[in-house]
Amino acid sequence: MRYFFECGSFFDFSQAELCAVFESFNLSKDSIHKVSNTILLVESNSITPSLMDEIFKRLGGFIRYGEVIDNLDSFLNPFFEKKKITYGISILGENTLTIKDIQRLANEIKRGFRSSKIGVRFILPKTRELNAAQIYNNKVLENGFELCIFQSNSANMYGKTLGIQDIYSFVKRDTQRPEADFEMGVLPQKLARIMCNLTGLREGIIWDPFCGSGTILMEAAVLGFDILGTDIDLIALDSLSKNIQWLSKENIITDTKYNIFQLDINNVERKVLKDLKRTSINAIVCEPYMGPPQKKILTEYKANELIVDITKLYKNFFNVVNQMSSRGFKVVLILPSYKTKKGWIDINISQFIDKKWNVLNRSYTKGDLKWKRINSIIARNIFILEKR
Ligand SMILES: C[S@@+](CC[C@H](N)C(=O)[O-])C[C@H]1O[C@@H](n2cnc3c(N)ncnc32)[C@H](O)[C@@H]1O
Repeated sequence: MRYFFECGSFFDFSQAELCAVFESFNLSKDSIHKVSNTILLVESNSITPSLMDEIFKRLGGFIRYGEVIDNLDSFLNPFFEKKKITYGISILGENTLTIKDIQRLANEIKRGFRSSKIGVRFILPKTRELNAAQIYNNKVLENGFELCIFQSNSANMYGKTLGIQDIYSFVKRDTQRPEADFEMGVLPQKLARIMCNLTGLREGIIWDPFCGSGTILMEAAVLGFDILGTDIDLIALDSLSKNIQWLSKENIITDTKYNIFQLDINNVERKVLKDLKRTSINAIVCEPYMGPPQKKILTEYKANELIVDITKLYKNFFNVVNQMSSRGFKVVLILPSYKTKKGWIDINISQFIDKKWNVLNRSYTKGDLKWKRINSIIARNIFILEKR
């Protein structure tokens, strides 16, 4: 069986996420192949359709997935048993095909169904691919199919969509959660989901020592992890607590165990360190403090000043992590880069970690895991670390 996965806006994040999630299910990531800048193919006879569905539902960095179709005619045959069909056609990624080509193919398919007296409804994509709202609102997957066309080695391949990212639940957590600190900065929720998945784990305890209002820990809880949230700021902890209670009230999570307390990572008492060691935390996933929000491009002086401050915090953070972690412990964290008039200034991860830590980024993807939009002033560099 061959599956295609359509990646979100950041290909390397999607690729790394899928590899890590495969690992969390003890599946080899060697079955994942890049066929274009948007599509990953998975070839496997051992992954059942229901397992693939479970995997897809955990992901944050993908738009849709489906099965590769080898023969269009035999793909369409079962639909001739139906009385009514709703279907759509999408072109995924770079392709010379246009909306007109979609329309032509759609009409051909329509004629076939109509001549067999089957009622048909074709949903035309607004751009080149149907969006999630079009798929959900028209019940395309329930009442028919979405046919996808994408390129591999400059030949067209076809696929039948099996799942679309559940954007409504992401949007609900983003816009309806009771608390968010936009002043301090809230992590994009899909990035929070991806970061939890980059641990390569499916269960256990995730600690965010800079939890803020809890974007990462909310996603961790939804994925089924138990969570520990600490922060220097009491208001942030109160927000986290309200957000987790809301997830529970909305039945988005059911039996998540959570613990929340105030902790200044620059000043961790021995007793607390002992407790942290005793709590069997499996991974840290965090976006540490990256300085005050910035509205315009920084001067080099200002960026370097920020970096000095932040370097101190990261050093203290790793000092704690080194003491409380043991072999196999995972850390997925963000290091900021700052945009200055003279270009981007990065912080080098190697100054914080010694030989006890493996950086796993390159085992998942060739590119950097740099989350940055066109107008970003601060970019987020993600590192996946494992203790030897
Ligand atoms: C960028 S925010 C995290 C935002 C969070 N990821 C979210 O989406 O809600 C960084 C957090 O680090 C916390 N912080 C700053 N200095 C700290 C310290 N010394 N110890 C612990 N937390 C600290 C801040 O209070 C803030 O909540």
